[in-house]
Amino acid sequence: MDTIEQNSQDVQPVRTEPESVRSAKHSRRAFLFKLSLLVNGAVGAVMAVPIIGYLLGPAEKKDSSYDSWVTLGPLTDFPEGETRLVNYRNPVTTSWDGQTGDVPCWVRRVSGTTFQVFAINCAHLGCPVRWFAQSKLFLCPCHGGAYYADGSRASGPPERGLFEYEHKVTGDTLMISAGKMPTLANQARNETPLLQIEGADSAKRLRAVEQPVPRCGSCQG
Ligand code: FES
Repeated sequence: MDTIEQNSQDVQPVRTEPESVRSAKHSRRAFLFKLSLLVNGAVGAVMAVPIIGYLLGPAEKKDSSYDSWVTLGPLTDFPEGETRLVNYRNPVTTSWDGQTGDVPCWVRRVSGTTFQVFAINCAHLGCPVRWFAQSKLFLCPCHGGAYYADGSRASGPPERGLFEYEHKVTGDTLMISAGKMPTLANQARNETPLLQIEGADSAKRLRAVEQPVPRCGSCQG
């Protein structure tokens, strides 16, 4: 009997929260739920912008971008006999491409209005080449490729000279056809002869040669 009385004393009375406390907890939970929805929505929107831009980007690109000419600067920026690094804005990029849309290239003013504009990428595996005025060589830091001042191959793994941009002088301004990057793929697609530089003196050594489009050996037909 004593044990039953003792057990009944051990049982704690169930305390019910006042209505005001329950209502405060409920409204706080509802507020946090709405806040998390808002934050998730904002994060989702921020992440969706570049994805949608990536998906819709090609549709937005105008064909005219590929044929557009871009100004590299006035002729006075390029002293005769010198080679200078110039950045231009790739016309095919969109506004949110940021700095990746800025493309460097090497401009060599041979004399008067005779220029050469080289892609900065090595013809081997694409590392950016640097111009060394004292040795009059373009050198590639990756595997030691070297090119003469006129872009022709001097030594190392590259099998050809530097790629050149199509360019023109309009008034006192140097312009390049920047929408089409000077690559073998672009030249093959346009079915234009590839400008290949051979030998040591550029004026005599420039010649156009047809580059066959590589074919798949296992393909039929
Ligand atoms: Fe320039 Fe290999 S990438 S030599």
